[in-house]
Amino acid sequence: MCLLLLFGVFVATAQNHQPSQNFNQNWKFFLGDDSTAYKPGFNDTQWRNLNLPHDWSIEGAFDEKAISTTNEGALPTGTGWYRKTFTLPATIKDEYVFIDFDGIYKNSQVWINGHFLGKRPNGYISFRYALTPYLNFGTKPNVIAVKVDNSEQPNSRWYSGSGVYRNVWLVTRPKDGLHFGHWGTFITTPKITAKSANVNIKFTINGDPDPREYVLTTTIYDENGKQVKKLSTDCRLKQDTTVYINQAITINSPKLWSIDHPHLYKVVTQLHYIPFVWGQPNVLVDSYTNTFGIRSFNFDAKKGFSLNGKALKIQGVCQHHDLGALGAAVNKRAIERQLEILKAMGCNAIRTSHNPPAPEFLDLCDKMGFLVMDEAFDMWAKKKNKFDYYRDWKEWHKTDLEDQIKRDRNHPSVFMWSIGNEIREQFDSTGITIAKELVGIVKSLDKTRPVTSALSENKPEKNFIYQAHALDVIGLNYHQEAYADFSKNYPGEKFIATETMSALASRGHYDPVSDTTLKWPHSSKGKFTDGNTDMTVSAYDNVAAYWGSTHEETWKIIKKHPFLSGLFVWTGFDYLGEPTPYPWPARSSYFGIIDLAGFPKDVYYMYQSEWTNGPVLHILPHWNWQPGKIVDVWAYYNNADEVELYLNGKSLGIKRKQGDDLHILWKVPYQVGTLKAVSRLKGKVVLSTEIKTAGKPVKIELIADRSRIKADGIDLSYITARVLDADGNLVPDADNLLKFSIAGPGAIVGVDNGQQTSLEPFKASQHKAFNGLCLAIVQSKASAGEINITAEGAGLKSTTIKIKTK
Ligand code: GAL
Repeated sequence: MCLLLLFGVFVATAQNHQPSQNFNQNWKFFLGDDSTAYKPGFNDTQWRNLNLPHDWSIEGAFDEKAISTTNEGALPTGTGWYRKTFTLPATIKDEYVFIDFDGIYKNSQVWINGHFLGKRPNGYISFRYALTPYLNFGTKPNVIAVKVDNSEQPNSRWYSGSGVYRNVWLVTRPKDGLHFGHWGTFITTPKITAKSANVNIKFTINGDPDPREYVLTTTIYDENGKQVKKLSTDCRLKQDTTVYINQAITINSPKLWSIDHPHLYKVVTQLHYIPFVWGQPNVLVDSYTNTFGIRSFNFDAKKGFSLNGKALKIQGVCQHHDLGALGAAVNKRAIERQLEILKAMGCNAIRTSHNPPAPEFLDLCDKMGFLVMDEAFDMWAKKKNKFDYYRDWKEWHKTDLEDQIKRDRNHPSVFMWSIGNEIREQFDSTGITIAKELVGIVKSLDKTRPVTSALSENKPEKNFIYQAHALDVIGLNYHQEAYADFSKNYPGEKFIATETMSALASRGHYDPVSDTTLKWPHSSKGKFTDGNTDMTVSAYDNVAAYWGSTHEETWKIIKKHPFLSGLFVWTGFDYLGEPTPYPWPARSSYFGIIDLAGFPKDVYYMYQSEWTNGPVLHILPHWNWQPGKIVDVWAYYNNADEVELYLNGKSLGIKRKQGDDLHILWKVPYQVGTLKAVSRLKGKVVLSTEIKTAGKPVKIELIADRSRIKADGIDLSYITARVLDADGNLVPDADNLLKFSIAGPGAIVGVDNGQQTSLEPFKASQHKAFNGLCLAIVQSKASAGEINITAEGAGLKSTTIKIKTK
């Protein structure tokens, strides 16, 4: 209660949170090391001012010699310091004060007023420190200092970012009496029928209570804010420091959480104590707000996966955490945009490869209807890189895994835990011991979700993690040729393809002959020499790494067999780092269905035609070729039984998908003009689409994903710039340098074009287009108004777009 009065703005922005104050504003930052910077009196006036979340790597220049290597994006790493000076009102001197970090990459150490609070090596875990004994109240300032050490390289197989890249919260709790513990509730729904759902809530309550009477009141609201249940439990708490209380609640006619209708309930729990003096009102000492969903699911060895009793194929993608040009710095709208693009493709599940995600990511998945495989580790005690987490394994894995489960177990989106990705211990007997231990840790905190591990050794007799017989569902990476025999090889086991494809493409680039499949690289031996000199990869779906497959190849297998619960495609979006198959200057991945800037590659529409109800009709490639050349024209379509292709009005024939085909193909002698496709169902036109030969670049078109955004200094509008010819056709190879300028209360916080080899900075106001497209990310300021964004380019007609902020 008093919290609200003291701080004014208490936002429970993250769900499953105690009321807390966002603590992101007004930090000082220094890129480098200074061993005295933890001292309160240290002079940081020369340091840079910034607001968190912050990733210093993304601000740097690409460098061939970066010790992080192209695997981590060839960006700078190193050591950095953050300091924040703040005061606390004297009125809260009797409160507990905590600081919550959602994630710091990596090896953080934290001091308050010169007192060392602790270190946390893991770069993806959320953690809390108690500040209480060391604080000053009233006018005397406090200084919190955070050292981030990402200097030892390499320590990751992908771009990690560096710094306090997730949100920070200040939490205060009453000291007089009790308070809910950190991640202090655990909500389960043990029994669900159409008529009712049993909801069980377990509370962890801390403090030094007098042995007095308390009342725990829980109110549940549906998504329209209507109260559906209220329950009060009287409790006498003893002098324990931690107590656990259960409440069992029944909700009648429950609205289920699902992919299409992600109904969420809100639960507000208040803890009051009953005064000794009779007749006095109860005193509120703490409250806790959670959201939860009511859903059931099942993996079946024969029938595959079902959600709320209905069969559902898991149509998932793996995602790393970077947000393209924004780097690792968390921005909720940036995550939401990625999820919107995936949702429109028909994706229904995400694997957070290979680490726990930002809390906001899970909040969004709850709200938008995605299933989440929440993954813990990319390595255990055996390393993949010289300086990776294996060094911290012994001391930290138990704490880290426990904290992940406690933080994430109320999210209805989270449906599985993965204890690791392609872990080295699958090849020796230590895999048995460690797998058993980790599954035990998970089950001690959550028995409601299955545990898997993403295994790359698919032979049961050779895989020691499998031989622990501790996994609820067997997760296989790649080896799609063996999926059909899964039930033979793993009798009675349940299946999920934890990672698949690793197909490659550059958006908008097409090499001739699309009906031959290429493996780039084709083996682990020797140097890769087959690629294109400009380090592009053709975007016909016909190139994959040798351990993977094209998109169509694996999806056809998963689609065919009901016992195959589903798959996670590597990856939804391109990410920074791991630029297989190319070396420098390639610095980001080619695996995405969507490029780094968020522009779909063509195969996006294959998935959309398979994974949504459509209608979909998409043709590729572009229509600018040398006359006489034979061009492979592909169409992805659904909801139709045929597609007819026309060139300059002349029919090139009707094609129909045969058997398990996922696209159709015409070999077309090129002529300048218009290529048009028409899909029909029983003779009736469903859709038509056309591509025209483009002339020279003449003008720029700007399209905002949202033209009204919040004036909060955080919200984003993503502006796509398209380079067009005089008739408004996209120029498919345009690489003009575009300069963006901005007027009004906004800033350009990132630019990109999705090209894996571009060495232009992301933090700039200009960028070249790649195959006709470019992106500028605009962020609001705290004041409302109108933002004008103008794009200019040499020889191009400039254009301006307006964004309103409110
Ligand atoms: C997998 C691995 C992923 C990524 C991928 C690239 O084996 O689990 O993290 O490296 O290969 O194809």
